[in-house]
Amino acid sequence: MFSGVADTVKNVDTAFVMIFGIATFFLIFNTIIMLYFCWRYSRKRNPVATNIEGHVGLETFWTVIPTLIVLGMFYFGMGFQKDNEVPDDALVVKVTARMWSWTFEYPNGKMVSSAANENLILPVGRAIKLEMTAEKNDVLHSFYIPAFRIKRDVIPTQQTMLWFEPKVTGEYQVYCAEYCGLSHSKMMAMIEVVSESSFKEWYGDDKPVQLAGPEKGEQLVKIKGCVACHTNDGSRLVGPSFKDLYGRKGTLTDSKTGEKRDYVADDEYIHKAIVKPSDEVVDGYPNAMNMIEITEEEITQIIDYLKSISSN
Ligand code: CUA
Repeated sequence: MFSGVADTVKNVDTAFVMIFGIATFFLIFNTIIMLYFCWRYSRKRNPVATNIEGHVGLETFWTVIPTLIVLGMFYFGMGFQKDNEVPDDALVVKVTARMWSWTFEYPNGKMVSSAANENLILPVGRAIKLEMTAEKNDVLHSFYIPAFRIKRDVIPTQQTMLWFEPKVTGEYQVYCAEYCGLSHSKMMAMIEVVSESSFKEWYGDDKPVQLAGPEKGEQLVKIKGCVACHTNDGSRLVGPSFKDLYGRKGTLTDSKTGEKRDYVADDEYIHKAIVKPSDEVVDGYPNAMNMIEITEEEITQIIDYLKSISSN
């Protein structure tokens, strides 16, 4: 409560404590009055019912007071609506939600992804503006930072925004707060708030980071979410590891006909496996891969990356 780890905490906690306090007060107050009336006006004490006329003064009293209380709650709730006040020097981070990971892109093109267990690193004491979206074929998600008391829906093809200023260094959990399918509960990310100097050291400057070839491919498999199912160290997750994948030989099954055939993971095969992942499935693995939005150039870069980590 009132932890002060971000500027957004105080408003929400104030509104919460106020509403909770008022509700608790009336719960106790009303219960006591009710019990008193049960006792005072029981049939034993009042065998003959009395007819009671209205009372303008009383009715005005219990109309005006609750109205003021509710308006007070509204006022404190409104204190959180500060979307239009984003400082000009805010650090803008683009957030892409996809089933089931978060990707963050900084102004210089640097990217991190929760699929690769990378943290969203932010400088302390600086306004952060998150511009959030999801791809056309994805679903609704919701970006939720409980410690900062903020949450906002992330909607395919639309942009939503969230801004805050972290005040204390540390790690803060991000959840997806909109049910989005099988691994919704695992769609988490970690915010790591660091000192201004450590951030600079990690981030570099605003000069755009230009990656090419295998390096670009390595970044792509993170931001496209591939690494959620494919490792790069030979260990097995949902799908085959990317290590030594290029040039690998094996057997696969045609999903429609059930026919088996031998294959070699060459350029042509990998291209097909990315673009139409469900058509043919490598033996020993589930048919679990989603279609992703990807360009020809990006596929080539990913193949370059696969080549770079294959001994075949
Ligand atoms: Cu994404 Cu739930």
